[in-house]
Amino acid sequence: VIVPSLLACLILGGQLDRQTRAIFASNLAAQLETFTLILGNNENSLAKGVVRTAADNTLQVTLDLGIATQLAHYLDQQRGVLEIDFLAAYQLDGKSISYSSAADEPGRGQWRIARTVDNVGADCAVARQPLSITICDGVAYLTSLQPVDRRQDANRGDAATGNPAGERLGYLLGGVRVAGPALIDALRQRQITFPAIWADDWVVYANLPVEQPLELGTADHPAQQYTIAGETYLGAAKRLEIGGQRLTYGVLAPLAPLRVSLAKSVLTVVGAGLVLAILTLIALSFIANRISRPIQLLREGAARIGAGELDRRLDIHTGDELEALANQFNRMAADLQTSYAGLEHKVEERTAELSEARDAAEGALRELRTAQASLIQAEKMASLGQLTAGIAHEIKNPLNFVNNFASLSNELLGELKEIAAPAIAGLDANKRAEIDETMELLSGNLERIAEHGKRADGIVKSMLEHSRGGSGERQAVDLNALLEESLNLAYHGARAQDQGFNITLERDFDKAMKPVELVPQDIARVFLNLFGNGFYAANKRAHAPNGDAAFRPVLHVATHDLGDAIEIKVRDNGTGIPPAIRDKLFQPFFTTKPTGEGTGLGLSISYDIVTQQHGGTIAVDSEEGKFTEFTIRLPRTAKATATRATI
Ligand SMILES: Nc1ncnc2c1ncn2[C@@H]1O[C@H](COP(=O)(O)OP(=O)(O)O)[C@@H](O)[C@H]1O
Ligand SMILES: [Mg+2]
Repeated sequence: VIVPSLLACLILGGQLDRQTRAIFASNLAAQLETFTLILGNNENSLAKGVVRTAADNTLQVTLDLGIATQLAHYLDQQRGVLEIDFLAAYQLDGKSISYSSAADEPGRGQWRIARTVDNVGADCAVARQPLSITICDGVAYLTSLQPVDRRQDANRGDAATGNPAGERLGYLLGGVRVAGPALIDALRQRQITFPAIWADDWVVYANLPVEQPLELGTADHPAQQYTIAGETYLGAAKRLEIGGQRLTYGVLAPLAPLRVSLAKSVLTVVGAGLVLAILTLIALSFIANRISRPIQLLREGAARIGAGELDRRLDIHTGDELEALANQFNRMAADLQTSYAGLEHKVEERTAELSEARDAAEGALRELRTAQASLIQAEKMASLGQLTAGIAHEIKNPLNFVNNFASLSNELLGELKEIAAPAIAGLDANKRAEIDETMELLSGNLERIAEHGKRADGIVKSMLEHSRGGSGERQAVDLNALLEESLNLAYHGARAQDQGFNITLERDFDKAMKPVELVPQDIARVFLNLFGNGFYAANKRAHAPNGDAAFRPVLHVATHDLGDAIEIKVRDNGTGIPPAIRDKLFQPFFTTKPTGEGTGLGLSISYDIVTQQHGGTIAVDSEEGKFTEFTIRLPRTAKATATRATI
C-alpha cells in the first residue's frame, strides 16, 4: 500500500510542478504583454506629441523668427504638457536653437542631430527619423526627430525673414528615457518586480545582474529558466525594432518562492497520502484480523477433523457469517462423529457375525470332511466285507470235502489196520515196525488235516458271519449290563485259555444311562472283540522281554449318555498301535498277530456292526507303548439311525 501511494504522491508532485510552472510562465507572458503596452504607449505619446508640437503655429513662428527666449519658454511649456524628458529645436543646419529639460537631465546640452551614420544612436547623436533609440551620457532615450515646416496659410505676423512659404524651418527633437522612473513605477504597480531592457546588447535597465538580453520565448514556451547570481529565475522576453535598433525587454521572476510553495503542497499531498495509506493499512489489518483469524481457525479445525479428531469443535464468536459457518461446521462434525461411531459399531457387529459364520462354516466343513472320510471307509469296508463273505462261501464246500474226507480217511485207516493186522503179524519185526510207523505217521497227518480243516472252518464261519449282518432284531437294552456281561465272558474266556492271565478291569459306567435300542448279540460280539484285543495288547506288554517289572495291565471301560447318542470307551495300557498301520486296522484279514492267534477279522466285523448295522461310529486313539483307546458312538434309537443314514 505504501509503495503505490508514495509513487502516486511523486507523480502528483511532478504534475503539480509542471502545472505550476506553466501557470507561472503564462503569468510572466501576461506581464510581458503589460510591459509591451506601457512601452508602446510611451512611444506613441512621444511620437504623436512631437509631431503635434512641430505642427504648432507658435513654434513655427518663433522658430522662423529665431526668437530664442520665447522659443525656450514655449518648449518648456510643451515639455510639461507632453510629459517628456527633453524637447529641443534645431535650425536647418542642425544648430541647436533652444533646449528644454529638467535641470538634472544627463544629456543636457549635448543633444545633436547626427550627420554621419556611424555614431547614430550613440553619443547623444539622434538619427533623422521619427522614432529611434539614442544613448546619451550612459542613458538610453527614445527620441523622435520631426521636421518643422512652414504651412502655406501660416500667419507670419511681423516675421520678415527671408524664408519662403512652405519652406522647412528646422527640426524638433523630443526624447524620453526608455527606462524612466515613470515606466519603472508603472511596471511596479503591475507587480513586475524584475524588468530588464536592452538596446541591442547594451543594458538599458535591469535590477538584476543580466549582461545578455534574454532569449525570446515562443508561443509554446514563453518562458525560459535562468540562473542569475546563484538564484534560479524564469524569464520571458520580447523585441522591438526601433529605428534600425533592437529593443529587447523582458520580465524575470525568482523560482525559489514558487519552489517553496510547491514543496509545501507536495509535502502536504505526500503527508496526506501517507496518513491515508497508514489509515488504510490499519483498517486492512483490522479487517484481516477479524476475517482471517476465524478462517484460520476454521481451516485448522477442518484439518484436525480430517485427521480423525472428530470430537474437535470450533470456538468462533464474531457474530457474522463466519460464526454461522463455524456453527454449521460444528454441527457437521457432530453428525460425522455420530455416524462414525454408528459405523464402527456396525462394522464390529458385522465382523463378529462374519467370524461366527466363518467358524460355523469351518465346523461344517470339518464335519463334512469327516463324514466323507467315514463314507469312503464305510464303502471300502462294505465291499471288502462282501468279498470276504463270497470267498468264504466258495471255500466252504471244498473245505467240507477236505474235512469229511480227512475224518473218513482216518476211519478207513483204522479199518485198514484191523484188516491188515494178521498179515502184518506174519512179517518180520523190522517190517512190522516200519509199517506201524508209517501207519502212525499217516494217522497223525490225517489228524492234522482234520484239525487245520476245523480251523479253516472256524475262519470261514466267522467270515460268513460278516454277511449275516442285520438279521438280529433291535431292542431296548441296558448297555451297562450288556458291557458287564461281555467283560465277564471275555475275562473268563481268557483265563480258560491261559491260567497265568491277569488284568485289572476298571469300570466307569454312566449311572444315568437310559436304555438303548440295539441288537444285543452283535454289539456283544463287538465288545468281546475289543476286550480280546485289549487283553492281548496289555498282556503282550506285560510279557515283553525287557519290560517294566512293576507294569500292571489295566483295561478301562467307560460309558456316557449323550442324550440322542451314547458313547463307549475301551482303553488298555498295552503296546499301542503304530501310526503306520492305523489306516488298515479295520480291513478284513489285517492282523499283526502270529498265525493261529489272530484272524484279522475282529475289527472288520465290529466296524460293520457299528457303522452299517447301527449307524454309529468307531474311532481309535493310541500312543505306541502307552495306550490304545477305541471310542464307539451309537445313536440311541433306530429312527435316529435311519435319519442319519438319510443324511
Ligand atoms: N487294543 C489293541 N492294542 C494294540 N493293537 C491292537 C489292538 N486292537 C487291535 N489291534 C491291532 O489290530 C489288528 C487287527 O485286530 P483284529 O481285527 O481284532 O484282528 P486280530 O485280533 O485277529 O489280529 C491286530 O492284529 C492288532 O495289531
Ligand atoms: Mg481281535
